[in-house]
Amino acid sequence: MNTLRDLYLEQLQDIYSAETQLLDALPKMAWKARSQDLKNAFSEHLEETKGQVERLKTIFDGHTTVKAGGHVCQAMKGLIKEGEEALESSGPSELIDAHLIAAAFRVEHYEIAAYETAISLAEVLNEKQDADLLKETLSQESEASSLLKKLADGGLFSEGIHAQAVQ
Ligand SMILES: [Fe+2]
Repeated sequence: MNTLRDLYLEQLQDIYSAETQLLDALPKMAWKARSQDLKNAFSEHLEETKGQVERLKTIFDGHTTVKAGGHVCQAMKGLIKEGEEALESSGPSELIDAHLIAAAFRVEHYEIAAYETAISLAEVLNEKQDADLLKETLSQESEASSLLKKLADGGLFSEGIHAQAVQ
C-alpha cells in the first residue's frame, strides 16, 4: 500500500467483505428472533444489504485496478461470531432477542464507522460519485441502528427482566 487511494480501495474491499458476510448472517438472525418487529427489522435490513452490495459493485466498476472480493473483514467475522452465541443460545427467548439486538447494534455501528471513513476518503480523493453512493448506504445503516434502539428501548430489553424473574 503506497497511496491514500490504495488505502481507500482496501477500505472498500473491507466493507464489501463485511456486507457479504452479513448477507449470510441476517437471515439466521431473522429466523432466531422471537419478536415479529425484530424479525421484520432483520429481514428488511437483509434486503437493504443486498442493495448495499450492489452499490459497492457499482463503485468497484469504476476502479478497474482492484476486485471487490479477495479480502476478508476480520472485524465483521468476529462480530458475527459473537452474534452466533445468540443464535446458538437456548435460553429464554426474551433474552435471545436482547442478545441479538446487542450483536446487531455492534454490527451497525461498525458499518457506520466504516462508511464514514470511506466517505471521507472518497471526498479527499475527489470521488464524488462514490461518496454519493456510500452516503446512501450510510443513511440506511443509521436508520437500521435507530430502529434497533427503538425496539430495545420500546420493550425488547425490559422483557428480559421478566425472563430472568421466571427462571
Ligand atoms: Fe450494511
